[in-house]
Amino acid sequence: MKKGLFISFEGGEACGKSTQIKLLKEYINKYKNKDDFVFVREPGGTPLAEEIRKLLLNYEDDKPLPMTELLLFCAARVENVYKVVKPALENGKIVIADRFYDSTIAYQGMARKIMSAKQILSLTKTIIGNVSPDLTFYLKISPEKAFDRKKNINEDLDRIEKEGLEFHRLVSKGYDYIANLEKQRFCIIDATKTPNEISAQIIETINKKMEENL
Ligand SMILES: Nc1ncnc2c1ncn2[C@@H]1O[C@H](COP(=O)(O)OP(=O)(O)O)[C@@H](O)[C@H]1O
Ligand SMILES: [Mg+2]
Repeated sequence: MKKGLFISFEGGEACGKSTQIKLLKEYINKYKNKDDFVFVREPGGTPLAEEIRKLLLNYEDDKPLPMTELLLFCAARVENVYKVVKPALENGKIVIADRFYDSTIAYQGMARKIMSAKQILSLTKTIIGNVSPDLTFYLKISPEKAFDRKKNINEDLDRIEKEGLEFHRLVSKGYDYIANLEKQRFCIIDATKTPNEISAQIIETINKKMEENL
């Protein structure tokens, strides 16, 4: 039976996750069998989880308490993992995720300090078992540079994107923490390179990983 492969993209806002996933999709459509790949985003991935996403990102009327925010992210993750990610991996698919639990460690753990990173890891294990990415691309950019990029985006920013520089510095610290703790799955990428340079590096790394996984 083919082994599945779980790949996640992480990093603070405007580091280029969506841009890279889009470039990867284009490459897959051209050179790979696209039925072998499943794309998910967090929070989201199922109809219910997408509803939770709306509550988390755009619900301004009654701002969730930090703990509520954390648990809603976790609830969406449970839906996504058991209904989409796990079945796809069991079918030998390659799952590509725009964010996964590293985001919870960085944002709700390190930045909002709702729980320690260790507690979030333990909670994650409790709710989704040992589902963990095989490979994580961490697109690393300084919060200052990311802020400059964001200034050029005209789209309305969501509730979390509106947080200040200090918050995003802590987010970076959170990513550095988990990248150091789970080194074996992390590929840290200089997100200030051009999108095409980064994409080439990502594709090369994925192709290598796919060969190892045969
Ligand atoms: N390597 C890059 N260099 C310069 N700008 C980039 C790069 N990658 C993405 N961008 C731009 O930065 C902004 C945020 O990119 P996006 O992919 O949406 O980030 P994310 O999904 O991580 O929030 C977009 O305007 C995008 O065009
Ligand atoms: Mg994005």
